This record gives sequence, structure tokens and C-alpha cells, in this order.
Amino acid sequence: MKIRSMKEEDLDQVVALEQAVFSQPWSRESFEAELAAAGHCYLVAEEEGQILGYCGYCGVTGEGQIYNVAVKKEARNQGIGRQILKALLQSGRVAGIEDFTLEVRIGNQPAIHLYQSLGFETAGIRKAFYQKPTEDALIMWRYGKK
Ligand SMILES: CC(C)(COP(=O)(O)OP(=O)(O)OC[C@H]1O[C@@H](n2cnc3c(N)ncnc32)[C@H](O)[C@@H]1OP(=O)(O)O)[C@@H](O)C(=O)NCCC(=O)NCCS
Repeated sequence: MKIRSMKEEDLDQVVALEQAVFSQPWSRESFEAELAAAGHCYLVAEEEGQILGYCGYCGVTGEGQIYNVAVKKEARNQGIGRQILKALLQSGRVAGIEDFTLEVRIGNQPAIHLYQSLGFETAGIRKAFYQKPTEDALIMWRYGKK
């Protein structure tokens, strides 16, 4: 498996995975805009042409907002999520981004566990942030230099 930058040619698979995983998936146009935006970074985990997972951040004024983290259902719990997130944090550091934030459904134990083990801490709650179903979001931050 290799981790590399997301490319336009990956978007058929990425959008299909996004639709399979999230109840309010991003559109293809949203991913196209992210790939074109300066300071944004999207990575995929690929094995023999198959996209197994992806994640990305939008970097603004030295901070990275992580928007999408997804791994194919049949490929979960093998450390892929951890590997792509670690690579994303490293890409951020190279670009001068030390601090990262994200939102996660309050009941999403696998994701919260993973983020905490990578050094993210809960900073607050956004009430009813998610729809389909309605759920609060945990706001998490990971500070590179305290
Ligand atoms: C969150 C997600 C990306 C993790 O991907 P992954 O490849 O399975 O992640 P990893 O295998 O690297 O790590 C998963 C960790 O969660 C743990 N885990 C799995 N199920 C769990 C559960 N029900 N409760 C707590 N921890 C759990 C695993 O034990 C593992 O931790 P460990 O390495 O300390 O043992 C994946 O589950 C996913 O795509 N979920 C759907 C999309 C999603 O919710 N994305 C996050 C949006 S904020």
C-alpha cells in the first residue's frame, strides 16, 4: 500500500467511497475545488489501483482544518486510517502547519479513539452540528507546539 497525493483521476473512487461512508457526502465538485485550492492537501491510501482510504486538510494561517477521513469498510482496523492521518500531519508540518482541528460525531468511537491516540484533544462541543441523523460534534485540536 502506498500513501500519495490525491489526483483528479482518483475522484471516481473517492466520490464512490465518500457516498458509501457519509450520510451527507461531499460532491465531486467539492473535491475538485479542494484539489485546486492552494494550501489544501489531500492524500489517498492506494493498493494496486484501489483507493482504500483518504483524508485531507485545508490550511489557513498556519492551522489545518481536517475535513475528510475515510477508509473502506472492508479495509478498516488494519491501521490505514492511522497511517494516512500521520502522513497528513507530516505533510502539514512540511508546509508550516503545526496545529490541526477537526469535528467528529460524538458517538463515533473508532474515529475519536484514533484521533486521541494521535494527540487530538477535545476542545468543545457543537450542538446538533450533524444531520442525518442529528448529532452533536466534538471539536478536537492537536497542537504541534505548546
Ligand atoms: C475512522 C476511520 C477512518 C478509521 O480508519 P481505520 O483504518 O479503521 O483506522 P485504524 O485501523 O488506523 O485505527 C482504528 C482504531 O480504532 C479502534 N476501534 C475500532 N473500533 C472501535 C470502537 N468501536 N471503539 C473504540 N475504538 C475502536 C481500533 O482498535 C484502532 O485503534 P488501535 O490502533 O489503538 O487499536 C474509519 O473507521 C472510517 O472510515 N469510518 C467511517 C468514516 C468516519 O467516521 N470518518 C471520520 C469522520 S470525522
